[in-house]
Amino acid sequence: MTEIRYSAAAIPTSPAVWLDRRGDAAVIIIDNPPVNASSAAVRQGLMAALRQVGAEASCVVVAGAGRTFIVGSDIKEFGKALPPPELPEVLAAIEACPVPVIAAIHGAALGGGYELALACDWRIAAPGATVGLPEVGLGMIPGAGGTQRLPRLVGLPRGIEIIASSRRVPASEALELGMIDALAGEDLVGDAIAFLAGRGKRLAARLTPPPAGPDEIEAAAAAALARGRGRECVKEAIAAVRLIETTPVEEALRLERAAFQRLRVGEEATALRYNFFAERAAAKPPVADAPRSIGSAGVVGAGTMGAGIAAVLLAAGLPVTLVDSDAAALDRARQAIGSTLADLERLGKLAGSSAAERLSGLDSGPEVERLGGADLVIEAVFEDMEIKTGVISRLGDVLKDGAILATNTSYLDIEALAAASGRPENFLGLHFFAPVPRMKLLEIVQCEATAAPVLATAFALAKRIGKLPVLARPGEGFIGNRIYARYRAQCEYALDDGALPQEIDAAATGLGFAMGLFAVSDISGLDIAWRLRRSKAASRDPRERYVTLPDAVCELGRLGRKTNAGWYDYDDKGGPRPSDVVTGLVRANAARHGRPAPDARTIADAILGAIVNEAALIVEEGIARSAEDIDVVLTNGYGFSKSRGGPLFQAALMENRRVEAMVELAANRAGWGFRRGDVAALLAPLRDRD
Ligand code: NAI
Repeated sequence: MTEIRYSAAAIPTSPAVWLDRRGDAAVIIIDNPPVNASSAAVRQGLMAALRQVGAEASCVVVAGAGRTFIVGSDIKEFGKALPPPELPEVLAAIEACPVPVIAAIHGAALGGGYELALACDWRIAAPGATVGLPEVGLGMIPGAGGTQRLPRLVGLPRGIEIIASSRRVPASEALELGMIDALAGEDLVGDAIAFLAGRGKRLAARLTPPPAGPDEIEAAAAAALARGRGRECVKEAIAAVRLIETTPVEEALRLERAAFQRLRVGEEATALRYNFFAERAAAKPPVADAPRSIGSAGVVGAGTMGAGIAAVLLAAGLPVTLVDSDAAALDRARQAIGSTLADLERLGKLAGSSAAERLSGLDSGPEVERLGGADLVIEAVFEDMEIKTGVISRLGDVLKDGAILATNTSYLDIEALAAASGRPENFLGLHFFAPVPRMKLLEIVQCEATAAPVLATAFALAKRIGKLPVLARPGEGFIGNRIYARYRAQCEYALDDGALPQEIDAAATGLGFAMGLFAVSDISGLDIAWRLRRSKAASRDPRERYVTLPDAVCELGRLGRKTNAGWYDYDDKGGPRPSDVVTGLVRANAARHGRPAPDARTIADAILGAIVNEAALIVEEGIARSAEDIDVVLTNGYGFSKSRGGPLFQAALMENRRVEAMVELAANRAGWGFRRGDVAALLAPLRDRD
C-alpha cells in the first residue's frame, strides 16, 4: 500500500502542510490526520507553501501524507461560516502557479480533495485509489469548481452522472474517463515528477469539454433527476454543470459557489450531516475491549431471516453452518442464499471473490451438533418462547467454551433466553431486519450479563458484514419495533375515526416515511399480525383502544398484495389503488362511532407526537442511548428519509410547545394507558447542536 512520507529537510508551512523537495521539484504534503480533510490549517498551509515555491522549482507535486490524499472537506466546518482562505482561493493560487502542478493521489481524493486535484494541471493516481465528488450525497453540490472543471475533462453527460450520483470512481475507470491522466507504479511522487517531463500547464477550467449532443446532455440530466427523485441539490448540480454551455467560467464558478453556500446551511444538508455523525456515533463500540476473533459462524433456523443472515455472513467471507429441522426449509434457504450471493457479485460487493466460492463456505443439515466448532451462532427459529428456549438451551450444551450465542428474536423475553443458554455472559441479541441483505440496521441487544468483549465482538461483526449497529437493552420490541407499534396505533386510530388508508399513508410520507403503514402492511401480508391479535385477544385490557377494522379487512380474505387485495386493491398491472371496499368499511365504522375524521395535519401531528413520546420513554428507560440512535434506527430500518434527518431531528426543529401539543394530541387519541415521556429532555441535545 502506498504511503507518503516527507524527508528530514521538509519544512512546515502550517500545522497541517509541509513543503519538501525532490530534486528541483517542490513537493507539498498535506498532513492532517486521519483523512487529510481540507480544514482551515490545510488551506492556510497550502497558500503559504504555494507562495514559497519559488521560480527555481521545475514543478509542484501535491500529495497527502500517510495512507490517503484528501478525503474531502472538514464536515465539521460545513454548518458554520468558513474560516479563510476558502478553498476556491487556494485553487486559484494553484492555477496561478507559474510551473506545472500535479496531484499525486493515493487512497481517496473526494469532494474538496478531488476539486483540489482538478485545479492542478495534471492528476496521477496509485492503482487502488478512488476519486469522486460526493457532495450531492450530503445535500450539497461541489462548491470549489467541481461542476465546472470535471465536465470539461469528461464531457457534460458523464460529468452530470458522476456528480449527481456522488459515486466513487476507481482509478482504472477514472483513467478511462479522463478524471485522472495516469496510473502510477510503486513510487507515486517519483512517477508524478516523471509524468510532467515535456508537459506544461493545462488548466481544466480553460478546456473545451469533449463534444456531446444536446440530446445526450438532456438524457443524462433526466436520468439524474429521476434517480435523485427531484432533490433540490440534484437540480442545482445539473444546473451548475450546464452553466458551461452558457456562462463564462469565472461567472459560473461564482454561481456554483453561491449555490453551494445556500445548500450547505439548508435543511437537507443539515439533516444529512446530522445523520452522518449520528451513524458514526451509533457504530462506535460502547466498550474499549478487544473483539474476539470470529473464524466461523452458525445459524439455526433457515427461514426468511436465517437464510438472509447466513447470506450476509458468507458474503463477508465467513464459513457458515446452517441448521434447520426441516429439510425443505434448508433446500429453499440454499436457493435463496445462492441468489443473494449472485446479486451481490453482480453489484461488485464480494471483494473480488465469486458467489460460487462464497457459497462453498456453506454447510447445512438438521443436527445442532454440527455447530460445536463455531465461534458465533445466531438463532433465528420460530418466534415462539417454548421452541426458542429448547433450541437455545440445547445450543448452550453443544457450543464450545467461549462461543457467542445470539438470538434474532423480535419480541420475546431476551433475559429469559439468556438464562436458558446457560452461558449468559456469552449471550446477546442480534436483531436483523428484513430483507437482511438490503437493510443496514442491526440492533445489538446487550443483556444484563453480556460480557464487554462479547459486545465488542458484535460491533466488530456488524462492521465486517456491512451493517450499521445500534445498541439496545432488553425491552419489548427493543427500539424500532416498539416505536413502530405506537406509530401503527396512531394510524389505526385515524382509520377508526374515518380517515382512509391512502389519506393516512399520505400523512406518513409527508412526515418522511418512504411508504405509509398500510402500503407497507400490504407488502408484508396482513395475516401474521391478525393471527397475533387473535392469540392476544383474551389477555387484552378492555380499557385499551382497540381498532377492529384490521380484523374486518382480513375477514374478507383481503390479506395484502399476495391476495391482490388488502388495504388497497392490486391487479396484474400493479397498485396500490384506493379500494372501494375498504372505503365502505371505514365510512360505516366511523358513522357508528360518530367521531369526525381527522385532517391531514392532525394525523401527521399525532403520529409524530406518539413517536417522540415513545422515544423519550425508551431513552429514559435506558433501552436506547440517545435521540440520535433512535433516528438512526428509523432511517436505516423503517424507511424514514435521511434527507429529513429522522423524526426526532424533525421534532427538534420545532418549538417545544408545538411538540408538547402533538404529544397531547397523540395521548388524547390513544386514551387509556398512554404514558408520558420527557420530550423536552429528549430533544434538548439535538436543539443544542451547533
Ligand atoms: P421463518 O418461519 O421464516 O423461519 C423459521 C425457521 O426456523 C423455519 O425454517 C423452521 O423450520 C425453523 N425451525 C423451527 N423450529 C426449529 C428447531 N427447533 N430447530 C431448528 N429449526 C427450527 O421465520 P423468520 O421470519 O425467519 O423469523 C425467525 C426469527 O427472526 C423470529 O424470531 C422472528 O421474530 C425474527 N425476526 C423476523 C423478522 C421478519 O421480518 N421476518 C425481522 C426480525 C426478526
